[in-house]
Amino acid sequence: MPDQSPLLSLSKLSLRFKGQPVCAVEDVSLSVAAGEILCVVGESGCGKSVTAMALMGLLPPGAAEIHGGVMTFDGQAFDLTKDRVPSDLRGGRIAMIFQEPMTSLNPVFRVGEQIAESVQRHSGCSRGDARLRSLEMLRCVGLPSPERLLDQYPHQFSGGQRQRVMIAMALANDPRLLIADEPTTALDVTIQAQILNLIRDLQRDTGMGTIMITHDLGVVADVADTVAVMYGGHIVESGPMTEIFENPQHPYTIGLMASVPRLSGPRQRLTTINGTVPSIRQMPSGCRFRTRCAFAAETCSTRPAQAEVGPDHSVACHFAPLEQMLKVAG
Ligand SMILES: Nc1ncnc2c1ncn2[C@@H]1O[C@H](COP(=O)(O)OP(=O)(O)O)[C@@H](O)[C@H]1O
Ligand SMILES: [Mg+2]
Repeated sequence: MPDQSPLLSLSKLSLRFKGQPVCAVEDVSLSVAAGEILCVVGESGCGKSVTAMALMGLLPPGAAEIHGGVMTFDGQAFDLTKDRVPSDLRGGRIAMIFQEPMTSLNPVFRVGEQIAESVQRHSGCSRGDARLRSLEMLRCVGLPSPERLLDQYPHQFSGGQRQRVMIAMALANDPRLLIADEPTTALDVTIQAQILNLIRDLQRDTGMGTIMITHDLGVVADVADTVAVMYGGHIVESGPMTEIFENPQHPYTIGLMASVPRLSGPRQRLTTINGTVPSIRQMPSGCRFRTRCAFAAETCSTRPAQAEVGPDHSVACHFAPLEQMLKVAG
């Protein structure tokens, strides 16, 4: 059972990009415990990556203004509006993997050197020990003949192998927290499943907390303990994974669910989501989902507060819980 005290918590992160009329991410709170996988899910453009970058102190300098947000990691609190996230956390106690490994692997260095360099930077160990650790990690992520691979360059690997190398590099310093931003999106389906299984197995072995960012509810069903659903820079629903799948309460979550098989029981098609995520310049006031919501009413022009609809299950919708609405809608 995961330890319940959060390893990382983020409270009310709000940030706005220069020149944009509204915050790209607004009042986003989430938390993840050691040994737990939190999936942050939502369509493209909902603010998932930007939230992760803010946590890591990786937002492009000068491009975004953080208006609020406190991150607590391992008992240490950082006011993200003014404190810098210490660089020794990044790649050390907090590791990150991205969608496209080629953007984080340097094409001109052998992969063994790249993993070893990261190990040496964070642990200060000898070159020899760092090389041994690299070898151990390549073996641990299931790459064949790791001795030979140490001396190869990133372009000599397939997409799936490169993602394994990235995972080896991310986990080489025994992070307490892994942030994985769409780590399987660029891979084909069978490789996706292998990489997800690998991350889940390593996560169980090490007890690290994990924030998995995805737009794919299949990934959520495969790996999540808890889920935060993002829409238009807001968290619209969050709760335990089974609760989100079996008892979704936000019209956006329900819409997302309509496109994937249910975990169990008869498949119900409640609604589908028309249209696309509005651009930041066209973002409606109040509930940002209201321009696409089948239940939208006048009251939705004011922003709904988060309401508890069950244990650890909260929803930001004026009509939550939705049972009454669904009866009316038939
Ligand atoms: N460097 C940037 N400058 C301006 N706007 C940005 C920048 N990066 C992201 N955004 C905007 O922030 C919003 C959220 O983007 P992002 O976090 O990448 O979405 P997701 O990861 O959920 O697909 C989008 O509206 C996007 O256009
Ligand atoms: Mg993204």
